[in-house]
Amino acid sequence: MHLSKGALFGAVLSALAIVPVAAQHDLPKPKVVDQSSPEQSAAAVTGDLDAQIAGQLAAGPTTIWNNVFTQVQADHGKTIYTAKCQTCHGPTGRGGPGTPPVTGSALNSKWADATLLDYWNFAHMNMPPGAQGQAGSAQDYVDIVAHILDLHGADPGDVPLTVNEDQLANITIVRKPKG
Ligand code: HEC
Repeated sequence: MHLSKGALFGAVLSALAIVPVAAQHDLPKPKVVDQSSPEQSAAAVTGDLDAQIAGQLAAGPTTIWNNVFTQVQADHGKTIYTAKCQTCHGPTGRGGPGTPPVTGSALNSKWADATLLDYWNFAHMNMPPGAQGQAGSAQDYVDIVAHILDLHGADPGDVPLTVNEDQLANITIVRKPKG
């Protein structure tokens, strides 16, 4: 059997393309809201996380300054950050010798206009160096991101940040609005 170079190359490319992201994360299956019983509509199940996230998404794109994580998860993230990230990135995320900051200019410039999905993916897939993805679960990495946003000066809110990729992708990193 003879495969043309082009076909072979294409096959290799598509094989490569499939591997990364999907294999790395255990994403929760979106819950289907039962439309047949109105009392179970999103509004009625306040406190249900899926409904809260659906509400955020329905409200449109947002930024890191709009209370996108909870203090509880930021505190949990702090515990992991202190154990697994702080030696290099410093207690306030300002970085250190040979290590870039994760707060301040990192978010204001380098990650400007990226989404929290991009930022979380980077941290989860690359950090800590040599033990990539091993600081905790995918949700633990989200909690670390919440702690980094806390260090950066963003205020917490009522709805936790989760491994729901739509939720993460809906939140953009921008400079703190003036005023
Ligand atoms: C052994 C030192 C070390 C540890 C521990 C470490 N990092 Fe890093 N981190 C680095 C270095 C070096 C870079 C720059 C690498 C690059 O740009 O590719 C970096 C880059 C980053 C960046 C991108 C910063 C930017 O804007 O360039 C993030 C976010 C990050 N690390 C998060 C984490 C998190 C979260 C942890 C803990 C789970 C962690 N790091 C642990 C050394 C470390």
